[in-house]
Amino acid sequence: MIQNGPTQSINHYTLELKDVKYVGSFPTLAKCPKPEKPEFAFIGRSNVGKSSLINMLSNNRKLAHVSKKPGKTEAINFFEVSGRWYLIDLPGYGYAVRSKGMLKSFKKMIYDYLEKRRSLVCTFVLIDVNVPPQKRDIEFLDWLGEHGVPFVIVYTKIDKLSKTQLSQNVQAIQEILAEHWNELPQQFYTSSEEKAGRDELLNFILEITDTLVK
Ligand code: GTP
Ligand code: MG
Repeated sequence: MIQNGPTQSINHYTLELKDVKYVGSFPTLAKCPKPEKPEFAFIGRSNVGKSSLINMLSNNRKLAHVSKKPGKTEAINFFEVSGRWYLIDLPGYGYAVRSKGMLKSFKKMIYDYLEKRRSLVCTFVLIDVNVPPQKRDIEFLDWLGEHGVPFVIVYTKIDKLSKTQLSQNVQAIQEILAEHWNELPQQFYTSSEEKAGRDELLNFILEITDTLVK
């Protein structure tokens, strides 16, 4: 269900995703389900809060596996919504504790999926606002741009900062991004702990799925 109207009124509504089901975890692009339904993928450094965000959006704390230790998500995880589209939980990029061989196959899994998946509609790149701008995030965004992968930015864990700190940190990140991009993509501010940014993200997704799937 889409709520129309100005963004200021979004918080008056609570959107719900109906019937969210875990479909499976797939170790390579070739093993993923057929690309027949729109997909929205969540990506970012390990521990940034990808799995937590999927749980927050679906109102189910037990759907995707969350851990304090980085490197929890290890495959391409599919969650089907209303039988019509998918939320995709990806492993974090750049988790250095993995062996070199594992890092290589993880990288291939993630980059293959992002570059070649025909049903990928939008990639949500998660950035933790609590840490200074990271080279790896910037390089990753550059790669998405070079490969024409559509993405938006999602700032995570905003609950850990005061308003002033938040705007200072976001400004620092945006300044670096502006050195690489003429125009910044859409940006969302979220906290899975406090369910902040939920309606904004869901509105964004549901507007697209409503256009794509009848
Ligand atoms: P990998 O699967 O290892 O790549 O990590 P991930 O990006 O899926 O992160 P995950 O959702 O597992 O969360 C990592 C840690 O951050 C957990 O301890 C979460 O409880 C915590 N966390 C996630 N989102 C938030 C948030 O919005 N606020 C706070 N304070 N902590 C959060
Ligand atoms: Mg995860």
